[in-house]
Amino acid sequence: MKISVIGLGKAGLPLAAVIADKGIGVLGVDLDKNKVDMIDNGINPIEEEPGLKELIKKHGNKKLKATSDAIGAAKQCNVHIVIVPLFIDENKKPDFSIIKKALESLSKGLKKKDIVVLETTVPVGTTENLVKNTLERNSKLKAGIDFYLAYSPERIMTGYSISRYKEFPKLVGGINKESTEKAFEVYKKFSKPVKVSNARTAELAKVAEGVYRDANIALANELHKVAEHYNVNFWEMKEAAKHQYCNILEPGNVGGHCIGVYPWFLINELDVPLIKTARELNDDMINYYFKKIKNIVGKKVNAKIGVIGLSYREGVKEKAYSRSIAMISLLKKNGYDVYGLDPLYSKEEIENNFNVKYLNDFGKMDAIMVMNKLPEYKSKLMKIKNKVVDVKNMLK
Ligand SMILES: NC(=O)c1ccc[n+]([C@@H]2O[C@H](COP(=O)([O-])OP(=O)(O)OC[C@H]3O[C@@H](n4cnc5c(N)ncnc54)[C@H](O)[C@@H]3O)[C@@H](O)[C@H]2O)c1
Repeated sequence: MKISVIGLGKAGLPLAAVIADKGIGVLGVDLDKNKVDMIDNGINPIEEEPGLKELIKKHGNKKLKATSDAIGAAKQCNVHIVIVPLFIDENKKPDFSIIKKALESLSKGLKKKDIVVLETTVPVGTTENLVKNTLERNSKLKAGIDFYLAYSPERIMTGYSISRYKEFPKLVGGINKESTEKAFEVYKKFSKPVKVSNARTAELAKVAEGVYRDANIALANELHKVAEHYNVNFWEMKEAAKHQYCNILEPGNVGGHCIGVYPWFLINELDVPLIKTARELNDDMINYYFKKIKNIVGKKVNAKIGVIGLSYREGVKEKAYSRSIAMISLLKKNGYDVYGLDPLYSKEEIENNFNVKYLNDFGKMDAIMVMNKLPEYKSKLMKIKNKVVDVKNMLK
């Protein structure tokens, strides 16, 4: 058995490394030639992932090789795991172009008896429709008969990816029974797989996880506003309310290419008012925090506003769907002079990627918005507490 992992990103590379660590030969495929070279030289391109550095050093160019030749990799391997991103466009519709491109290359090297597993989070039905059709059309093979096709959702979280393979059950559902069995046997070699009835069940289970979290954060956000109305300390109330049936999550913004994206897969297709309201409520939180900034600076024209925490969450260098970007553009639209700071990004990266000035003097700011939990700035922020909008309750 030789496994190809297509897409060596924050999700795909830890998976490839974990498989290699079980002694199975892995050929990773990525369009990014620089990343491919790094892996083949035993260098970890995703620094923020604990434990990954050691695995890449140990297995790079040995059990784990990398390539940009997608068709060649498909020809050499008999199990193919696809884990490239799926984004939504400005109308919140999924853009399948990256997945389609990866599948088209794969289909050109696909052979009889091969096993294909999609791990990217997708709208329900994608595996048995788009994936099956794309692979069949180009390969002239029949899915479920000539080759096997299943879905197994990636459930890691950057920062905990390696350990989660050991802890989390890996759902596996095929487009037919044979596909489920074949994929299950493969996953047994490096994870803890659990069979579900079909690919659709596995797809919805993953989307549901994201929706569950989004809706619960929305509830926390609403309760936060309610507490404020009654002059109750939300954080004290949250702890006091905790018992067997009640665990209020932390309020705040929901960013990133997961939780804020997946609900749209359902909202686009179905009448799901609770899920839709939760999504919109969470997206609207930037306006709520913005009003707090306005209360601090009053009518001052061109006020200087610092935004601390620019990636979508602390510890992950990823700006896709970061709410800080939405916040910056809201502040700028309202005529504020915006500065940014994030320990993950250099001064140049901040100025070029986030289109703000670099924040190096907290004292010069009229107000500061703290978007992520970054305790390294806590003592400095404590000194100007009245000017800070503390989204993550870091200053307590
Ligand atoms: N990162 C996470 O915490 C996480 C958690 C759960 C699920 N996921 C799932 O994993 C998917 C991928 O996320 P990620 O965080 O790894 O993304 P990422 O942006 O970190 O990496 C994606 C990688 O895919 C590569 N790529 C793009 N098109 C390709 C192609 N045609 N062939 C080969 N490689 C290609 C890119 O060069 C990049 O290296 C997400 O869409 C999501 O469904 C991610």
